[in-house]
Amino acid sequence: MSILRVSLIFLVSSFALQLVSSQICNKDDSATLLKLKRAFNNPPNLDSWSASTSCCWFWQGVSCDDNGRVTWAAISASNISGPIPPEIGDLPELRRLEIDVNPNLTGPIPASITKLQHLERLILAENSISGTIPEFLCNMTSLNYIDLRSNKLYGHIPSCFRGSVYYIDFSSNRLSGHIPASLMNGYGGNDTFLNLANNRLTGRIPRSFDNVNFYNINLSGNRLGGDASVLLGEAKFSTQIDVSSNRLSFDLSNVTYPEFLNELIISRNRIRGSINEQITELQGLGVLDMSYNRLCGPIPSGLWMRPYPSSTFEHNKCLCGTPLPPCT
Ligand SMILES: *[C@@H]1O[C@H](CO)[C@@H](O)[C@H](O)[C@H]1NC(C)=O
Ligand SMILES: *[C@@H]1O[C@H](CO)[C@@H](O)[C@H](O)[C@H]1NC(C)=O
Ligand SMILES: *[C@@H]1O[C@H](CO)[C@@H](O)[C@H](O)[C@H]1NC(C)=O
Ligand SMILES: *[C@@H]1O[C@H](CO)[C@@H](O)[C@H](O)[C@H]1NC(C)=O
Ligand SMILES: *[C@@H]1O[C@H](CO)[C@@H](O)[C@H](O)[C@H]1NC(C)=O
Ligand SMILES: *[C@@H]1O[C@H](CO)[C@@H](O)[C@H](O)[C@H]1NC(C)=O
Repeated sequence: MSILRVSLIFLVSSFALQLVSSQICNKDDSATLLKLKRAFNNPPNLDSWSASTSCCWFWQGVSCDDNGRVTWAAISASNISGPIPPEIGDLPELRRLEIDVNPNLTGPIPASITKLQHLERLILAENSISGTIPEFLCNMTSLNYIDLRSNKLYGHIPSCFRGSVYYIDFSSNRLSGHIPASLMNGYGGNDTFLNLANNRLTGRIPRSFDNVNFYNINLSGNRLGGDASVLLGEAKFSTQIDVSSNRLSFDLSNVTYPEFLNELIISRNRIRGSINEQITELQGLGVLDMSYNRLCGPIPSGLWMRPYPSSTFEHNKCLCGTPLPPCT
């Protein structure tokens, strides 16, 4: 009886102890976060970040591992301004950093983040961060997801991203130069995401992209020339391809389309030739835009072809047939 009671008490108290210990926020991590809050001028959105509570349980946008080390920190839409302070590098167990939608946040990506050796996701989207995309990001071996969309980054894309990085969004910045051939090469998975839309990129789409399984690739709104057929072909697994508003110039006649495509946007280029019949085999193709090119010949019909609006095919050289006027 008493043995049972004792062991029951032991069980309950060790459970409570575990609960309590998992509530304790590491002192160094909590001090670092409070320094960040102060550097950002104590924004109202971070009111919950208070020295009197555990950062692991009560602080908005923060979570911890079982040892009370901070693994996730987010400061979103908080009207913070100025540069990201160097203290950001002092959260040694951080896996995911998210500082986004702060249009008055300026300055470069701080070098101190290279100290975050376990960082997997870096999300700095929709701020006003400037400078170049630093090469030191390539030295962060755990990093596999990088979202720097909608900032004021300029210069070339470093040619050092390879290996484990499977998600890159650098869209809506001021990046220039060529797309590096090594970009995302070496990652073998099917889930590769690349968005470089709305920059000032020039040159050609690298031949090496033939070896990358993009499930989503968006190169829209740049100054890219040459051939995009390296992204196409029925053996690919891509579901979304957008290369619109570039200067692409190649013959589409013999190009086939990835079987699982649901969005294909190639409008506003200088693409010539005809549309391959194989496109009628795509069951999932919901969004299609081939307008403003130099295509010619009959629009394939039948099988899975949807009733696309005429705007899908308008402003080409001599495409004809439904939904455009009949071929003569
Ligand atoms: C950015 O700063 C300006 C001027 O200091 C301020 O008026 C504006 O509210 C800030 N933007 C946001 C989104 O808070
Ligand atoms: C953002 O912060 C600035 C200065 O810190 C302040 O003047 C402005 O009112 C704030 N805007 C919003 C939307 O909170
Ligand atoms: C990357 O790491 C290597 C080896 O540790 C070092 O020599 C190099 O300077 C680092 N590069 C950057 C850009 O930090
Ligand atoms: C990619 O996905 C397809 C279909 O889901 C699968 O058959 C194929 O093995 C995958 N390839 C890789 C490299 O994961
Ligand atoms: C490609 O990116 C641009 C800019 O962000 C966006 O407007 C467009 O919808 C994207 N395309 C697809 C297919 O998602
Ligand atoms: C398409 O393929 C056919 C047959 O292989 C070939 O005769 C033709 O020249 C090719 N057209 C283009 C534009 O590559």
